[in-house]
This record gives sequence, C-alpha cells and structure tokens, in this order.
Amino acid sequence: MDNIRSLRDVQDEIIRLKKEKDICILAHVYQSHDILEIADYTGDSYGLSVQAAKSEASTVIMCGVRFMAETVKILSPDKKVILSSPDAGCPMAEQIDTSLLAGLKKRYPDHTVVCYINTTSELKTLCDVCVTSASAVKIIKNIENDKILFIPDCNLGAWVKEQIPEKEFAFVQGGCPTHLRMTKNMVLKAKEAHPDAKLLIHPECLPEVSALADYVGSTTGIMNYAKEHDHKEYIIGTENSITEHLQYECPDKYFYPLSKDCVCHNMKLTSLVDVLNCCNGTGGEEIILEDDVREKALRCINTMLELG
Ligand code: 13P
Ligand code: SF4
Repeated sequence: MDNIRSLRDVQDEIIRLKKEKDICILAHVYQSHDILEIADYTGDSYGLSVQAAKSEASTVIMCGVRFMAETVKILSPDKKVILSSPDAGCPMAEQIDTSLLAGLKKRYPDHTVVCYINTTSELKTLCDVCVTSASAVKIIKNIENDKILFIPDCNLGAWVKEQIPEKEFAFVQGGCPTHLRMTKNMVLKAKEAHPDAKLLIHPECLPEVSALADYVGSTTGIMNYAKEHDHKEYIIGTENSITEHLQYECPDKYFYPLSKDCVCHNMKLTSLVDVLNCCNGTGGEEIILEDDVREKALRCINTMLELG
C-alpha cells in the first residue's frame, strides 16, 4: 500500500492548511465521518447558521449543500465563502421560484410567509422569516400573526401545525425526496424486526411515518436523543450518515437505518479530497451574491436568529 495516500494524511494536511490560511470548516451532519473529524463545527442547519454568524476566520468552507453556503455568505459578506462541491444543491430548495411565490402571496395576502431554510437566497428575499427543523415550532409560536403560509415542505409544516393548533396554516406540495423514501410500511417492518428499538424520525418524513415515532426532531436532535438516553437500540429515520456517526459515538448501542435508500446524494458529493482542494484554492466554488439579494435575504435569516 506504499503508493496510497491515507485518509489520515489528507486530514493532517487539511488541519495544517486551515491554520495556515485562517480557514474555518463547517460541516452538516449528513457529511461523511472523515469530514466531520476535520471540521471546526458540525451540526444541523440551525446550528450551522448560528456558527456562521459567529466565525471569525477570513475564509469559510461549507461542506453541505448550496443553500447552506449561501446562508453563510448572507451572514458574513466580508468573508470568502466556499461551497465544497459546486454541484451539491438541495432539490427541495429549487421547488418554489419567485414567480410561484408571488402568486401564493396574492392568494394568501393576510399570511406571514415562513420559509424553510432549505430555499434559495432569491426566494428568501420575498419571505418574512425562515426556520429550520430545530427552530420552526419556537419561531412560529413567536410570530404575532395567526395566519402562516409555510413553504416548501408540507410534511415539516404538518408536524409544526400539530404542535401549534391555534394557528391557521397554508401549505404547498413540496418536500425532501430523500426523506420521502421512508414509508409507514418500512416502519412497521423495522419495528417487527427490532421490537425493543426506539424510533427516531426527522420531520421531513411523511406525517404517517412521524406519527409512529418515539421522537421527532432535527438531525442533531436525533443524535442528542440517542446519546442522552440509556436505551440500547434505535431505528434511525433520517439520512443514513446519522446512523454511522452514532455508531462511532455510542459503540455500546445499536442503530438500524429505517431505509437503506435514505441517502442524500447531494450531501454525499463532497469528499475529503474536495475539502483539501478547497483549502489549496483549487476546488469548490466561491459564493458570490448580489448586494440587493443578500440584504433582503438577510432580514429573513436575522428574524429567525432573533426569534430563535
Ligand atoms: P436539519 O439538519 O436542520 O435537521 O435538516 C436536515 C436536512 O435535510 C438538511 O438539508
Ligand atoms: Fe435537501 Fe433533503 Fe438532501 Fe436535505 S436531505 S439537502 S432537504 S434533498
């Protein structure tokens, strides 16, 4: 194996370069374990947004998908922000464009427009506030208006609505193609195979899947639940990298993916070598946003950070 560069060598080179070049690496928890190991901060979409606002480094590499790198740029316009893999987009973020939203606003003129953070910067310019899976319930409770237009994920929306029955919600038919792969039938089979396991589900799943869960929450919410509870076995209803990270963190517990197909191919586009190339200045894509878009989208994200 003399000619093969080890993963450890690449990680060491990244760690050296990020110190030398004042780089901060943010990684969403759907990234692979070797990337989480070299990141300065790992977390869910909400945690990453908060961290993006705090980081003091002059360059930030976002290992995740495009809307996440755009969020960093919106919050830190003076930093150089690099998306680790230029092709990594979120299909849900592309489901609604500005003209469709303009039509919805005409149809629901009295509603406060709440968008999931998984949307483009352009779309955020037309929304009142954005939310993440971890912050949605708290933020929407804090909005004065009782009429909410929630876009684009109607499954996350239905889960939020269940917890805030006093408000009136309007939805569109959007959602995450990865989480929609998990069905009620899969849950019933998994429970039969692992009768003692707790079922942990992400709220992007179908309502009939979430309804059977012992816990519903964001990606870090799911990881924290499994780490903090004494229970031995867990069925994981979110992207399968969470199962893998939990196996590293809790070697005495058992984690079963609800579906072997729950893989987000966009999140999986980034490799450790891509991160090294970003550090070397030979890879990734620098995120550039027009001032007008950035300023308007900033209001939407800042309102989330204030209310959350
Ligand atoms: P969270 O990390 O906010 O739970 O979101 C999951 C997801 O699908 C990110 O794209
Ligand atoms: Fe988008 Fe779903 Fe992938 Fe998250 S898991 S980036 S919501 S496609």
